[in-house]
Amino acid sequence: MVKVTYIEHDGVEHSVDAESGLTVMEVAIKNGVPGIDADCGGACACATCHVYVDPAFSEKTGEPTAMEESMLDFASEREDTSRLSCQITINDDLDGLIVRLPQFQG
Ligand code: FES
Repeated sequence: MVKVTYIEHDGVEHSVDAESGLTVMEVAIKNGVPGIDADCGGACACATCHVYVDPAFSEKTGEPTAMEESMLDFASEREDTSRLSCQITINDDLDGLIVRLPQFQG
């Protein structure tokens, strides 16, 4: 298990235990973390699972694929650290991961 912390737009934090192999989106849904809609169920086709990855974890989470990049263009309030959480798979290296949630999805 690795620890992942989601920080809502208003600063409310949710620290949860995440199982390796699940995505950051799936862990949020499973733990009832609000603010991630995931309308497409993780198919990289909706951009409603938008998060901002803490810069300390940017290298570990890697670069978005070309498909993720094009979907991110549909996310409101996109920033340099924006990612689609359904495209980040939990592994042991991500222990302590922090992601911030945008005010709105889509
Ligand atoms: Fe739809 Fe991530 S859940 S793009």
